[in-house]
Amino acid sequence: MSPEPWSPESWRQREAAQAIHYADPRGLEAAVQKLRSLPPLVTSWEIERLRQALAEAERGERLVLQGGDCAETLDDCRPDQITGKLKILLQMSLVLVHGAMKPVVRVGRFAGQYAKPRSRRMETRTSALGEEVSLPSYFGDLVNRMDFSPSARTPDPAHLVTAYQHAAMSLNFIRSLSAGGFADLHHPEQWDLSFVAQAGLSPELRAEYERTAEQLSEALRFMQALGETSIDELSRVTFYTSHEGLNLHYESAQTRRVPRRDGYYDLTTHLPWIGERTRQLEGAHVEFFRGVRNPVGVKVGPTCGPDELRRLHDALNPANEAGKLVLISRMGAERVRDALPPLARAMKADGRRALWICDPMHGNTETTEGGVKTRSFDAILAEVEGAMEAHRAEGTVFGGLHFELTGEDVTECVGGAAGVTEADLTTNYASACDPRLNYRQALEMAFMVTRRLRSERASAGRAGA
Ligand code: PEP
Ligand code: CO
Repeated sequence: MSPEPWSPESWRQREAAQAIHYADPRGLEAAVQKLRSLPPLVTSWEIERLRQALAEAERGERLVLQGGDCAETLDDCRPDQITGKLKILLQMSLVLVHGAMKPVVRVGRFAGQYAKPRSRRMETRTSALGEEVSLPSYFGDLVNRMDFSPSARTPDPAHLVTAYQHAAMSLNFIRSLSAGGFADLHHPEQWDLSFVAQAGLSPELRAEYERTAEQLSEALRFMQALGETSIDELSRVTFYTSHEGLNLHYESAQTRRVPRRDGYYDLTTHLPWIGERTRQLEGAHVEFFRGVRNPVGVKVGPTCGPDELRRLHDALNPANEAGKLVLISRMGAERVRDALPPLARAMKADGRRALWICDPMHGNTETTEGGVKTRSFDAILAEVEGAMEAHRAEGTVFGGLHFELTGEDVTECVGGAAGVTEADLTTNYASACDPRLNYRQALEMAFMVTRRLRSERASAGRAGA
């Protein structure tokens, strides 16, 4: 049975989970027309280059590191925020290269991560006068604003254009930094390794991390000593962008054909993904993203069975192309060992091409007694380990990681050697949505994962000897 014809507008015939209702259709049409006329944020050749890299990751030749805010805000479009995120992603990627001995593809959850699915359409608060007030939930700066007032919470189509402009400004700065201004960040001696000195870390781990940092510095100094070209190569770092493709008005307005290539490209980002709550097989999001040439991510939680995953694969990678579909497992530390293997096995048994990466954040969210959303460092690490183990057991490729993190010193996740406790959560809880690893937790996580990658390599080496 051949599928119905696709067009950038065919999603409108389907039901969209988390659909955004704009009360002002003319305003929406004007915003969409404006977006259609603006130059793209990314290009088809960058997208194709990412697809190549993802295809290599599928073969186990690379790792993918995807990370950034849960909900990026327009206010995050500031130089310090942007450099902070690039810096932590770059540093984590170098640590991972050291463990995996493979190149790492860096994909930011930034420059457009402005739309959020919510578990409740409406949010109710009690006013100072004791009255209950219900307003639409905050769906991200692409849709409405966080303030709890009727005007802020009403979806405003003009935000589509404002968000696009902020994504463009962020990306402009990222591109300039990537083209050279980053050289200094390659030097591990300038990293904040203060977590290494924390009481929470055993002397053995501390010594090991110091050794890794020293070896990285050595390797980078060696590269620099090799000469001009390598300095140049080394100081040019590539970042790709990604965001959840929640708002299809926004995505479809920037989806077009490009000269000398087949098909349509979604030019708001290199790697859009479909969330756990919007991946209904018959829904608008799967319909829209089945038609674009971009690689597409899809979040896969523990309720997804092998048959459902097969059908998602049929829809999103019908030609079974390499580098086309990224399956982002987010099972939770408790479930990953039983929920992931049957899915990985099903894809492998059918010869279905897809890249598996692990999001250890979204299945591990808890609420403290005080009502604060948090995640524990240990649970996050346990899910990564569970995913690595599942792929090893199934003979499938563990292709990378997806984190919510920031370059700032926030207190949103508990644990790590620096010892953020539940009581600390209120000190600097800045996330507009889910809790993120802070700079030190993120770097420590990279070191932890690297230890495991190294021991996997060692055991693979022994097995092969
Ligand atoms: C997210 O990535 O912020 C998110 C909402 O994830 P999920 O779709 O996996 O719940
Ligand atoms: Co999130």
